[in-house]
Amino acid sequence: MEKGNRANFGSKLGLILATAGSAVGLGNVWRFPYMAGQNGGALFIIVYVVCVLALGIPCIMSEFIIGRHSASNTARAYRKLAGKTPFGLVGYLGVLTGLLVNGYYAVVSGWCFEYIYASAAGQLNGDPQFFADFFNTFEKDPVKPIFWAVTFLIVTHLIIIRGVKDGIEKASKMMMPALFVLLIVLVVASCMLPNAWAGVEYLFKPDFSKVTKELFLGALGQAFFSLSIGMGCLCTFASYFSKETNLTSSAMQIGIIDTVIAILGGLIIFPAAFSVGVSPDSGPSLIFITLPNVFQEAFGGIPVVEYLVALSFYILLSLAALTSLISIHEVSTAFVEEEFNVSRNRSATIVTAVSMVIAVLCSLSLSDLDIICLGGKSLFDWLDSITSQILLPLGGFFTCLFLGWYVPKKIVKDQYTNWGTMPGKYFGVYMFCMKFLCPICILLVFLHQFGVI
Ligand code: PHE
Repeated sequence: MEKGNRANFGSKLGLILATAGSAVGLGNVWRFPYMAGQNGGALFIIVYVVCVLALGIPCIMSEFIIGRHSASNTARAYRKLAGKTPFGLVGYLGVLTGLLVNGYYAVVSGWCFEYIYASAAGQLNGDPQFFADFFNTFEKDPVKPIFWAVTFLIVTHLIIIRGVKDGIEKASKMMMPALFVLLIVLVVASCMLPNAWAGVEYLFKPDFSKVTKELFLGALGQAFFSLSIGMGCLCTFASYFSKETNLTSSAMQIGIIDTVIAILGGLIIFPAAFSVGVSPDSGPSLIFITLPNVFQEAFGGIPVVEYLVALSFYILLSLAALTSLISIHEVSTAFVEEEFNVSRNRSATIVTAVSMVIAVLCSLSLSDLDIICLGGKSLFDWLDSITSQILLPLGGFFTCLFLGWYVPKKIVKDQYTNWGTMPGKYFGVYMFCMKFLCPICILLVFLHQFGVI
């Protein structure tokens, strides 16, 4: 891309849908509902919303400010502002995290494709043991998961090479509304089941006996992952924002969309699970073992409905995963393109190829071949925990310190107020969050993960 001719999002709606697409992902469907159910229902949701408002949105803002100010890829964006200080490394950390996440997120995304195929082919029928065996056999197969992960990366690649406006924005404008419609259809179907109300109550009824340290730290960690904070996705997207984009309201809209979709995810899972008396778990086993069984039991009376529900659910998941994967891919693509001065096509190809290698290794580490495992943990699990427990919080933590304490206040304020053309309402509150509240809270979550507190 030529200097001064940097890509931009074409419309405000496109920008919001693309950025919200990054945030809305597997984290909304497989983790949020479970965390809410386990941690006091409505209470968790309230704490989560407070975390999103007080910590998540200010952190989104910071990445927006850094990205739009420098109008370049994440590494250069931090470097431009950091000069020779070590803060310049935070951008590189984001790019590295992005590349690693890209590889393993593609594996889980590929599983969603297999389940679209399996539900379309009517293969998802059997007793609970059947569903567990189906998933375990598939996961341990040395070829199938690789095939689907590679297919998923090729789809992502084909969108990325079309560029920001014609690729990412256009795809998000089609996929996000489709995702929302599917979500609503599934919520309605699930809430109409007998005894569905028990699931709704479980999710929304506050249970004060569950107020624990876990509740607060869990909500915060989930908010950061779900909002895609800490690895340069938001910073890269913001580098394509225009001077007129209102950063505060965009950050708020993205926080709200992501939270609403997470709650709707809960309204699919809990009513259906309670209606058949199954207790929901989290992670891959929830969406690939428990839920197909729940859908079969809950909707099995009318086979066409069961078929459509399962199919819609896996299409929904694939759309959510795809919009997130696009944003993760874009972090590295923009980096390679601008730092090594190659065409977008070539940089996307390099990133796709590297991601494929990581995805293949991750898949193989889960397979029967029992290779690429270290300390009893597969490469897949290593990448998952290193990125979400260490690299993402570190990225978020240093970004707050960078903006709060290092970047000249004038630059921050200019971005915040669109060069003085908008009232800088709550700027003081925002700076307080960046200087103190956010770094302290991220540090607490970080220490908690390692059992220090
Ligand atoms: N926010 C995404 C989700 O909820 C995951 C993600 C994390 C995407 C970090 C991009 C960057 O699944």
